[in-house]
Order: sequence, then C-alpha cells, then structure tokens
Amino acid sequence: MLAGLALLGLPAGSACSDGEPAPGATDTRVEVFSWWAGPGEKEGLEALVADFRRQYPGVDFDNAAVAGGAGTVARSVLATRLQNDDPPDSYQIHAGQELAADIAAGYVEDLRYLYDQQGWRAKLPAGLVEAITFDGAIYSVPVNIHRSNLLWYRPETLAGLGLTPPATWAEFLAQADGLRSRNLTPLSIGPLWTQKHLLENVLLGALGPDGYTGLWNGGTDWGGGQVQQALHLFTDVLTLTDAATAVGDWQAAVDHVVAGTAVYNLMGDWVDAYLRTKGLTFTTGYGAVASPGSSRVYNFLSDSFTLPKGAPHRPAAEKWLVTCGSVSGQDAFNPQKGSVPARTDADSSKYTGYLAAAMAEWADEGTRVVGSMTHGVVVDNTWSTEIDTALSQFTQDKDAARFAAAAGRRR
Ligand code: GAL
Repeated sequence: MLAGLALLGLPAGSACSDGEPAPGATDTRVEVFSWWAGPGEKEGLEALVADFRRQYPGVDFDNAAVAGGAGTVARSVLATRLQNDDPPDSYQIHAGQELAADIAAGYVEDLRYLYDQQGWRAKLPAGLVEAITFDGAIYSVPVNIHRSNLLWYRPETLAGLGLTPPATWAEFLAQADGLRSRNLTPLSIGPLWTQKHLLENVLLGALGPDGYTGLWNGGTDWGGGQVQQALHLFTDVLTLTDAATAVGDWQAAVDHVVAGTAVYNLMGDWVDAYLRTKGLTFTTGYGAVASPGSSRVYNFLSDSFTLPKGAPHRPAAEKWLVTCGSVSGQDAFNPQKGSVPARTDADSSKYTGYLAAAMAEWADEGTRVVGSMTHGVVVDNTWSTEIDTALSQFTQDKDAARFAAAAGRRR
C-alpha cells in the first residue's frame, strides 16, 4: 500500500492560484476529456458515466474522448485547447508530476474545498494524496490505481511450450532463444510509448525498486555501470520483440499473445479489462505475473480528473468530480477498467479474477510501491518529452551512454 511520498522520492510540486467560474456556467451538461476510447477502456468510462447519470440524472454527458493509448494523441489535442482558452469541463491526467505544468500554467483549479466537503483526504492512501499535493493544494481527483509492471501470457501457449513465466530477465532471455527458433515472438510490443513502458520495467527489474526510484529523484547515477548494464539489457530485450513490424496500439500487441503468435506482452493492468472484452477468463484464458525482477513491487499510476479554470459548465464539472471520487463511482468504474479503486473503503467483493489478486497485493503492507515514469507519476512533461526524443534515437542506435546522457541529464 502506498503509505508516503518518501517511498516515491518525489519532489514537492509548485504553483497554485484560484479560479473563477466562467460567466453563465451551467450544470445541464458536462464535457469530459479523456483517452478512453479504445476497447477495454471505453467500457470503463461507460460504467463510470452510468454511475454519474444515476447520481445526477439531469446532466448530459458529452464524451470528448480522443483515442490513443496512454493519451499520446489526446494530450496534444488537450494542450491546444488549454492554450486557446477552450477547456473542457474536466480532463484526465495522471497523478504525480504530470500535473505540474498545468498547475504552473494556471490551467486547473485548487480542489481543496471539494476534498473538505467530500472528506476525501481520509479515504485515499496518504502517499497518493502527497503525490497530488502541490504547495499544499490539490488539483485532481484520482479515480483508480493501475499497475504498470505486469507480464501477460496465455496459459495454453505456455503449456504447449512447456514453459512457466520468467521470474528474471535472465530467465526471459533464456526462454526467448528457443521461442525464436520456433518462429514465435517472445515479447509483443506496440508504438513508442509501449517501448517506454517496457524500458521503465526493464530498469525496475534490473535495478530494483531503490535503484529505479533513484533514477527519478537523483539517487541513482545514470552514468554508472549498473544503469549502463540495464540499458543494454533493454536493447537486448527489444530485439526479442516485434517492434520492427508492429502496427496499431497496445491492444494490437496484446492480440498477438491472444493469437499465440507472441508469447508474452509487458503492459499495465488495463490489459485485464481488454482480455475480458474478448471473452477470456483470468487464470484459464490468460495469466499475469509481475514483470521479470519486480515481484512484490507495485509500479503504480493513477488516473485522475481535474477542474479546468473557466470550465464552461463548472457546477456540472463538480458533480462529475464528486462521482469520480465516490465509492459508487469507483466501484462502477474500476471492475470494468482493470484497476483497483483509489479509495481505501471500496467494496472489495466487486473485484474478482485478476483484480482480486491486485487488490490484495495493493493493500499488502509488504508490497513495495514505486511510481511509473511513462504514466506521469515520477517525471514532469518536459522531462518525459526529453526521454521520448532520446528513446526514439536509442531504439535505433542502441547507444546506451548517449541515451543515459540525454535522458538522465536533468539530475
Ligand atoms: C494509461 C492510463 C490507463 C490506460 C493506459 C492505456 O496512461 O493511465 O488508464 O488508459 O494508459 O491507454
């Protein structure tokens, strides 16, 4: 369980200011911006919207979702809207450092009044509250906790090959040799953001939770031998993927595992929701273990919603946020989304299959929590973009020293 920000080694955020409701703000409709448009994600959003409609029947829901995994497309559309003073009523953002730029730009409102009114602080893990607190203010409402470090597979594929999921990257490399000679893809992958997602979890598995966290808070030397080795491991792993031929987003990569042409996929637990939309059942149809080298570590991220300054329908946006922060909203959303509730007082009986195991692991005091780089917890947008640029080059030139110098240079 996420107990304190110290676990994540995050610096405190900055900037805060007050906003005024837009003149003539109404509560008859609410425009909500997210990237939950694809299979496995839209079902989660629909379940949350259904609970919102039940709680507030008089408000029309205007779904402004922009497709693209991890918000890769949505975030640039949103940035343009915010710059043009054309905010939606609420938008999706990750808890943690991803919020910092929008706070500094004055795009979002301080929501402490809503936290006080709804008693949310006492209902969220202390470490999560800390991760979303910037100079004492809170600008977002977390709706879930996702886990990034999972290796997905089909039990029937592994049984046919006489394999069990690898516990370490060395085991994965050993398995991969045999898989390639059978014309199988050891690890399926998708666009650049999924390669970044793989990178963070190779780093986590190779460096351990302290070494990984140190990359983002200054405690780990990017130029040191361990990081170099971990980066070489990443390029080795990448050559065992179908990166060169991959088309489509994360769902397409998971499809290769479903079809049995790829053996593993490393992705967050939104895969659980996607595989259920395909009629598969956890343990018989699909399985998941902690990605190699990261057993008992929860590499977390949290989807949250904001109240932009100048939201055209501010009272309705507040209602949306109240639903996002409520037990019934979270218990409607998360079982569909493949995530566990951000609230600690949700109804655990609603979480079955993979999610029952995830809830137990999240709540276990012995679980070590670290924050996702790819999904906004530990690095801000500027740093994240620098990593993207360095990574597209790294996947081509495989120059670990050059990547470390470019990606780690802010510390
Ligand atoms: C993450 C997001 C998840 C899921 C995933 C794939 O950034 O937090 O909810 O949507 O991207 O799109």
